Amino acid sequence: MNSSHQPDYSEYTIKWASLDWEKDEAYALRKRVFCDEQSLFEGDDLDQKDQTAQLLVALGGYGGWHERVVGTVRIHEENPGLWYGSRLAVDPSYRAHGNIGSTLIKLAVSSAHALGCQSFLATVQAQNEELFRRLHWHTLAKKTIYGRPHVSMEAGLTFYPPCHTPFSGFVLRAKQRHEATELAPQLTGMLIANPLAGARQRTALQGV
Ligand SMILES: CC(C)(COP(=O)(O)OP(=O)(O)OC[C@H]1O[C@@H](n2cnc3c(N)ncnc32)[C@H](O)[C@@H]1OP(=O)(O)O)[C@@H](O)C(=O)NCCC(=O)NCCS
Repeated sequence: MNSSHQPDYSEYTIKWASLDWEKDEAYALRKRVFCDEQSLFEGDDLDQKDQTAQLLVALGGYGGWHERVVGTVRIHEENPGLWYGSRLAVDPSYRAHGNIGSTLIKLAVSSAHALGCQSFLATVQAQNEELFRRLHWHTLAKKTIYGRPHVSMEAGLTFYPPCHTPFSGFVLRAKQRHEATELAPQLTGMLIANPLAGARQRTALQGV
């Protein structure tokens, strides 16, 4: 568990959303982040672009089993070759947790690149400008939206080779190592309470 008692998954899959539960959880996460946490919108943050945009999700899971959406972003093609990314959000419990936000950005740009993107833009909240700069984006202009400072930024496409398999996407291994006490508390508790059982089990294993 991390400090907010959410599970520390062993891996995170960053992919284009394909299933209804992935999309539902992505919209719910956006609502929590952009309405409740940041108070940018009231009620929900849905708009016209959601009807055509492609949603991306970061799924927390174990051993290939996807359990829950912990991050999302959406992309859309405004004009031929001109793509935008927006609504990037990572669940607060999983921020700075192994590059989930950065990998959502990577797949957003790389998958658009594979579809003929020539320019990939985003309107970024000013406090995130440094994060995007480190990921090879440059600033085009500063502006105020929803009463908050933002920057128009463009991705350096050469740093984002085309990704032709966006429904498989990328898999990130979690930074934290998983302790046996966390993964199998009942088993390890039993061995501490009854060391003889542990010894018998070790002997049995040696005999295999
Ligand atoms: C911005 C956001 C998506 C970043 O997600 P994240 O998963 O924490 O980002 P990553 O883990 O990929 O960050 C990579 C590195 O950049 C750092 N970083 C993250 N946000 C940063 C920021 N705003 N400025 C500078 N560095 C930042 C991380 O600490 C991490 O550093 P490390 O490699 O030394 O550990 C997340 O903080 C978020 O959802 N914020 C609220 C919503 C929001 O602001 N959306 C973006 C709208 S433009």
